[in-house]
Amino acid sequence: MLSVVPRPVVVRAPSKVNLHLAVGDLRVDGYHELNTVFQALSLSDTVSVAPSDALAVKVRGEDARVVPTDNRNLVWKAAEMLAIEADRRPDVEISIDKGVPVAGGMAGGSADAAATLVALNALWHLDLSREDLDSFAAKLGSDVPFALHGGTAFGTGRGERLLPVLSRSTFHWVLALAKGGLSTPTVFRELDRLRADGTPPRLGGADELMHALTTGDAATLAPLLGNDLQAAALSLEPRLRRTLRAGVAAGALAGIVSGSGPTCAFLCADEDAAVRVSAELAGAGVCRTVRVASGPVPGARIINDAAEG
Ligand code: C5P
Repeated sequence: MLSVVPRPVVVRAPSKVNLHLAVGDLRVDGYHELNTVFQALSLSDTVSVAPSDALAVKVRGEDARVVPTDNRNLVWKAAEMLAIEADRRPDVEISIDKGVPVAGGMAGGSADAAATLVALNALWHLDLSREDLDSFAAKLGSDVPFALHGGTAFGTGRGERLLPVLSRSTFHWVLALAKGGLSTPTVFRELDRLRADGTPPRLGGADELMHALTTGDAATLAPLLGNDLQAAALSLEPRLRRTLRAGVAAGALAGIVSGSGPTCAFLCADEDAAVRVSAELAGAGVCRTVRVASGPVPGARIINDAAEG
């Protein structure tokens, strides 16, 4: 008898940077109300999902050893959630190849979860609609819907309610990856603490920034980048101030802490400038390593063409 060996479904899971991240007050459910503009970046993880005897998670790449491979990993939760929906056992092996820094403020874990939803929808022929996937994504975490969506989007609520944003042209970024990560809840708590002391200013609206995106001009966009979590990340990791200064000194148009940090994201005039800034920053001794990336890119997408072969 000819047996058909199922091939894994392979999904590219993009990282993100928040071009604008305005954090409102702490809500009773423990989350903060956000107004944010996300951009999906080419720095990505690759997630392969294949049928197996039992649910298993494998992680390789930089920092792989600090990523949990049990039910603390969002991909595990994503598989269990869709298995209940499909009324079957979650017997798949999920292999994650990390390109996105772990606990880096670039939503790598959320991207892996979004990728798992997309992969299982194909592997198990679930035929779930975009709306269904969005609602599973929102249950998994605030940044998971954007990782499905990709591109450039305006997020409200805890970041899970999305509207697409018109963005002309491709923007070029240099990412300075830090040694170690920052815990997102800790950074939000630090912001609440700083605000209780009355220090950090709050970002205004994102209208001007969204207009700059429609022009496609990086120099117009650069001074409008802003992140309310930056003050909190810098308070917890004061060395990031040096990193931010070094990126601008190396020729970036602007630098911000990405999300809850500690990755710093530098917007550059074009691809050549990004390569130059990355080389200089790599030699400046202010970060663990540097990466060049561009955005916007699509959300989690299957990159091989068949679930079976
Ligand atoms: O949604 P997610 O599980 O990724 O969020 C992780 C943590 O980040 C939350 O438990 C909360 O402490 C913090 N958070 C927040 N407000 C948001 C999103 C996340 O306070 N809008």
